[in-house]
Amino acid sequence: MSRIVLAYSGGLDTSVLLKKLILAGNEVVAMTADLGESDGVAGEGAAAELEKVKAKAIALGAYDAVVIDARERFVNGYVLPALGANALYEGVYPLSAALSRPLIGALLVEVAHQYDADAVAHGCTGKGNDQVRIELAVRSLDPSLTVRAPLREQPLSRPDAIAFAAEHGIPIAHSAAKPYSVDANLWGRSIEAGVLEDPWTGPPEDAYAWTASTNVQPVKPDEVIIHFEQGVPSLDGVTGAALVAKMNALAGVHGIGRIDLVEDRVIGVKSREVYEAPAATVIIAAHKALERLVLTRDELRFKAGCDQKYSELVYDGLWMSPLRDALDAFNASFAARLTGDVRVQLFHGAVTTTGVRSSFALYDEKLATYGAGDAFDHHAADGFIRLYGLPLDRMAAIRSLDYVASPLRSG
Ligand code: ARG
Repeated sequence: MSRIVLAYSGGLDTSVLLKKLILAGNEVVAMTADLGESDGVAGEGAAAELEKVKAKAIALGAYDAVVIDARERFVNGYVLPALGANALYEGVYPLSAALSRPLIGALLVEVAHQYDADAVAHGCTGKGNDQVRIELAVRSLDPSLTVRAPLREQPLSRPDAIAFAAEHGIPIAHSAAKPYSVDANLWGRSIEAGVLEDPWTGPPEDAYAWTASTNVQPVKPDEVIIHFEQGVPSLDGVTGAALVAKMNALAGVHGIGRIDLVEDRVIGVKSREVYEAPAATVIIAAHKALERLVLTRDELRFKAGCDQKYSELVYDGLWMSPLRDALDAFNASFAARLTGDVRVQLFHGAVTTTGVRSSFALYDEKLATYGAGDAFDHHAADGFIRLYGLPLDRMAAIRSLDYVASPLRSG
């Protein structure tokens, strides 16, 4: 017998899991994290839904059930640091699921300590990234806890889950027949499986819930000004989880943030994933635009490589790694200058930055202008090019030698 904290969504798989762990003689505490799964669009009714999830766990015989509103913690502690790195896995996926798993791991550990539990459990299969992310987080925070992954030990087919649920009085939602596997939080919604498993099949419209299809998008663009204060975005004074929810709604109606990606999982397989991440798409684009205005060329070039590494660490479940900490410190060193405004236009599935301003701007109109008042020293360019090209002069001389006899050609 053991006391186990289970990451519980209230869905079919984790409900079956909860029951099975109880039947095996364990005391199970169901832990449900509110990361704004339904805040993608409206956010209404989420609290009531979560109360139902809690009641369901208790009804199934859980020792206790807790719902933790972790939305602000998610945005401030995970999403914003990732924004500092413009984190996009393989250039396009804003890492919504990947960023949430270390937080879920941390919450499991905290609840385990509260309830004096000796184990935590999750419903991930052996095929995904999420098992890696949750387990590495738990292990980093408390290596003494046992991690149970029952669906990895004994994979549960959909029909078996439904049969088990029927047998044990687990209510089955209509969504049990759902055509996709969906995971969502404020930073994005991921859709996989079903017909999407063929990467040649275009995502059917019913895969999307937060973004409008082209037939129903507004006929006029919207324009918003995102303000950044030391790297932290806001819109009309709204920050944190509320900002992300608001931006999901604003950009979602324009169909912004649909992403279709064949991606490389940690465990070595490629998988086809569809995402919709309206807020992430807009906010990252705006953040990059501000960076281009205030950071030096070298900073931008060097940071781009670091940003890619950051996205890989997050994706690969290495949130707890010291390198991620170091990169956060690196990114924080730029944040002092990341204060300013970015104007973005939202229209026809695209976010377009249309203006940027900051008192830290390195852009200097007097140097850049082709009009009157040009302060750029055109003559200086001549000497610059002569020295800059010196190494090429020597190379050109070598090339003009008899090429056939050239030692460069031998071997
Ligand atoms: N492929 C994405 C990732 O690894 C999304 C995973 C979504 N998780 C899920 N259980 N459906 O980050």
